Amino acid sequence: MDIVSPLSQQEDTIINTKIAAALNEQLNMEYYSAYSYLAMSAYFLTQNLNGFAHWMRVQAQEELTHGMKIYDFLDDREADIRFSTIETPKQSWDSPLEVFEDSLAQEQKVSQSIYNIADLALSERDHATHTFLQWFIAEQVEEEAVVRELIDTIKLVGIEGNGLFLLDRDLAQRGLNGTDTTEGQ
Ligand SMILES: [Fe+2]
Ligand SMILES: [Fe+2]
Repeated sequence: MDIVSPLSQQEDTIINTKIAAALNEQLNMEYYSAYSYLAMSAYFLTQNLNGFAHWMRVQAQEELTHGMKIYDFLDDREADIRFSTIETPKQSWDSPLEVFEDSLAQEQKVSQSIYNIADLALSERDHATHTFLQWFIAEQVEEEAVVRELIDTIKLVGIEGNGLFLLDRDLAQRGLNGTDTTEGQ
């Protein structure tokens, strides 16, 4: 009979194991990013830059939400959700500028990792994963731009004195969803 068997329907919904492995690695990377931003937040607390510390703490919280998006997607696709060791983040820096330069490097690494999974999804013809990743691709453009802008501002105001104090006051204003204008789209 020319009907679709339950087995082949099931195969359609189950995610490719290579893609599931890559998404599980990305889940770890988002949690590493959260850990890393939290370490940056703790560093700023020791520097009495509480606005910077607040900004980094909000950033860490956003990374957790990214991790949970991947977690939920893996669940929706009936994939195994796997946990692995989260690397110890760097915990001391010489200046606020160095912190943001590290942050940009980390975001660029995350962007590259997401592009690689998107490439894999295309080559495996997994359109659902490819579409899912579009949100992350847009989010990375936004995150890299925000960090670059902060690096430029810190260079402009210098690493100490009034300028840094005013920037600290500014960064203290960041709300929970912060600069994330793509949220909910
Ligand atoms: Fe992220
Ligand atoms: Fe990020």
